[in-house]
Amino acid sequence: MEVHANNNAPTKNVWQSTTSTRLSLGQWLGIFLRPTADTMESSGPSPTSLNNFRVVYLITQMVGAAIVILMGSWIGVHLGGLSWTSNPATQFNWHPLLMSIGMIFLYGNSILVYRGFRYARKKPLKVTHAAIHGLAFVFTVVALVAAFDSHNLAKVPIPNMYTLHSWVGMAAVVLFGLQYLFGFVSYLFPGVRESMRSTYMPVHVFFGVLGFVLAVAASLLGLLEKAIFAMPDYRYLPPQGVLVNMIGLLLVVYGGLVVFLVTDPMYKRKALPEDAMLLTHSPSSQ
Ligand code: HEM
Ligand code: HEM
Repeated sequence: MEVHANNNAPTKNVWQSTTSTRLSLGQWLGIFLRPTADTMESSGPSPTSLNNFRVVYLITQMVGAAIVILMGSWIGVHLGGLSWTSNPATQFNWHPLLMSIGMIFLYGNSILVYRGFRYARKKPLKVTHAAIHGLAFVFTVVALVAAFDSHNLAKVPIPNMYTLHSWVGMAAVVLFGLQYLFGFVSYLFPGVRESMRSTYMPVHVFFGVLGFVLAVAASLLGLLEKAIFAMPDYRYLPPQGVLVNMIGLLLVVYGGLVVFLVTDPMYKRKALPEDAMLLTHSPSSQ
């Protein structure tokens, strides 16, 4: 989004300015949320823009929690609850629950960690980023086992990997696995040289965000698929249908908010002086 702003006249209304300066989407939103002069500055996060970050971050967390809670309610109230291999039909229900915790809520939170905790030191942030992704991966593996078991252990076994949902979902999981491997080796252990870390960073961010978008897309496809399997009367929009559609909309909102917060340059974490000190002591402090 591009708006013309005059850096030399901070009290001038943004609509009347003449010199061209790029405003990020966050600053653009800031104009509406709090119309003060510092929303016109394009370099670095101002206190106002960070307040906007906090508000959007809080809303994002609430939407993410709502997805998990509503998914749990759908499973508990309409899909027969949870079990393991004793009943493959309800064993399946772990799949959407654990995927929405792992591939959606935890994944989103992990990629937001550098921006949500911007004043923490780099090294603990990296360890937290890697640990939350690791936890998300464990949830994802158990969720996949539940889906495959529910097909293979059914009285009449169901073929595997035949749907678009399963293909998009598997693409997201494979990308996630590769991303983890490359991220870990480059930035945590053993760590590669500084020039390679900087060259790889935009690639890491791009594929990290792409994996998240794929996970949201896979969840939407899976949700629709399960809704059609589970509700012969879906076309009459029963209460269960409204619940499923609401979860889908919340997934879109959560996905949009996370991508916004993680890609807006204004919210990017600025290096702390301690980071530079760490750089001189550790080969992997980027
Ligand atoms: C990022 C999240 C998700 C990923 C990576 C994912 C991945 C997969 C994969 C790989 C399968 C194939 C299992 C097999 O062939 O045996 C599958 C099956 C299934 N998933 Fe998901 N899933 C995700 C989220 C969801 C959600 C939220 C739902 C909602 C209920 C869902 C519903 C289903 C259904 C109904 C099946 C069985 C039919 C089929 O194979 O497509 N999935 N999922
Ligand atoms: C599936 C695994 C991973 C995904 C999806 C992922 C994704 C991302 C994304 C989207 C960002 C941009 C964050 C921002 O700009 O605020 C990022 C930054 C970063 N990630 Fe990862 N990452 C993964 C694993 C790792 C691992 C294992 C490490 C090793 C420590 C790592 C290290 C970093 C570093 C150092 C940054 C730069 C933060 C900054 O802007 O200063 N990532 N990652």
